[in-house]
Amino acid sequence: AATPGGCPVSANAAAFNPFEPAYMQAPAEYLRWAREQEPVFFSPQLGYWVVTRYEDVKAVFRDNLLFSPSIALEKITPATPEVMSILQRYGFAMNRTMVNEDEPDHMERRRLLMDAFLPERLITLEPMVRHLARQYMDRFVNQGRADLVAEMFYEIPLNIALKFLGVPDEGAEQLRQFAVAHTLNTWGRPTPQEQLEIAENVGRFWQTAQQILDTMRAQPVGEGWMYETIRQHLLHPDVVPESYLRSMMMAILAAAHETTSNATANAFLTLLSHRKAWEDICANPALIPNAVEECLRVAGSIIAWRRQATADAVVGGVPIPKGSKLLLVQASANFDPRHFENPDEVDVYREAAVEHLTFGYGAHQCMGKNIGRLQMRVFLEEFVRRLPHMRLVEGQPLEYLSNTSFRGPAQLWVEWNPARNPERLQA
Ligand code: HEM
Repeated sequence: AATPGGCPVSANAAAFNPFEPAYMQAPAEYLRWAREQEPVFFSPQLGYWVVTRYEDVKAVFRDNLLFSPSIALEKITPATPEVMSILQRYGFAMNRTMVNEDEPDHMERRRLLMDAFLPERLITLEPMVRHLARQYMDRFVNQGRADLVAEMFYEIPLNIALKFLGVPDEGAEQLRQFAVAHTLNTWGRPTPQEQLEIAENVGRFWQTAQQILDTMRAQPVGEGWMYETIRQHLLHPDVVPESYLRSMMMAILAAAHETTSNATANAFLTLLSHRKAWEDICANPALIPNAVEECLRVAGSIIAWRRQATADAVVGGVPIPKGSKLLLVQASANFDPRHFENPDEVDVYREAAVEHLTFGYGAHQCMGKNIGRLQMRVFLEEFVRRLPHMRLVEGQPLEYLSNTSFRGPAQLWVEWNPARNPERLQA
């Protein structure tokens, strides 16, 4: 195997395959060799340059002119002709949104659409998240056992996302199936056979998103970020074009909740499997905001993101030819000992935890990061109060969707003795 320039690649680089279960099970561990020996390497199986150290990943994120985000939502597994014709049948036209838009259009658009994400606007979300968290917990708190993903971590972020966007929540049931198809279609390596069914679901997702958008556009007076976006489109159609509305409607329906659901499940898994960290936050809930950052560092829900070199470049001393595609593995960068002391330790007191790259970095850094953080914090606050004695169910298999970027367990089983619930003891 060789790089596009004809140089031979190492055996490790040749073997790198993010669609192998080991990558999803423990992405930082899977790339430990690269961080140590070959921090920027070409992967012949993927056709991407893989970047694994903190400073290199950050430097690429920082320069969004030399390293364009235009390929962020490209199908990483090229569509077969059959898939193309299925998608065409549904009128699928995913194009530029925000996350894959180049300058100068990107910044102009981001500025126009930023208001709803400002901390003072998000304050109103907190009571809603807390109310939902309590209500969902009431359903299982006396049961002694629950799959937290199914019982709570999937639905609440979805509810909050729809509320934030202004999207009515009928039909929300279908969205999970759609979001899975979108993830596999964009970041997965399905077989040609699997791709056919995935394409049908992606097509239906597209159509559903367009119907929602059309209904909202017919009366663009409601509250929520998509309504604000529609109104900005009417005022500035050059900055917020119609094609943006169409693509964003679908992209955000997945991005605004899958990321948070997965990050929450990852955080509970991390803390419960490092009992000392869990006990520390139970004893002192003021540690929770930093614990959230530490969990985003060691178990982020977006573990790799893409850029394309717009000119010949150098990353970590390695020449990268113009046109090359790069996979920036944040999950590896977040374990780089050059930046984080004892990176393998889960340390809820770690001062630098917030410097993780899970939300990206620079001009495109996640706009919704504080919505994700808020939910994770509130969930932890409610659990340390009501179920501090909860434990992971031992030996449960942790299943992940096979793809380069979106990571979170499909289920997370926990158990506890309801007779020991603090609220019951106080009563
Ligand atoms: C962009 C991660 C939650 C909306 C991004 C990017 C990442 C990311 C990695 C690309 C950053 C880059 O290219 O530098 C996450 C994670 C989340 C989360 C880990 C949860 C824990 C959310 C939520 C929303 C949201 C809840 C909206 C309600 C966006 C938007 C962008 C973005 C609009 C595009 C920003 C731009 O390109 O200027 N996110 N996200 N995200 N995210 Fe998030």
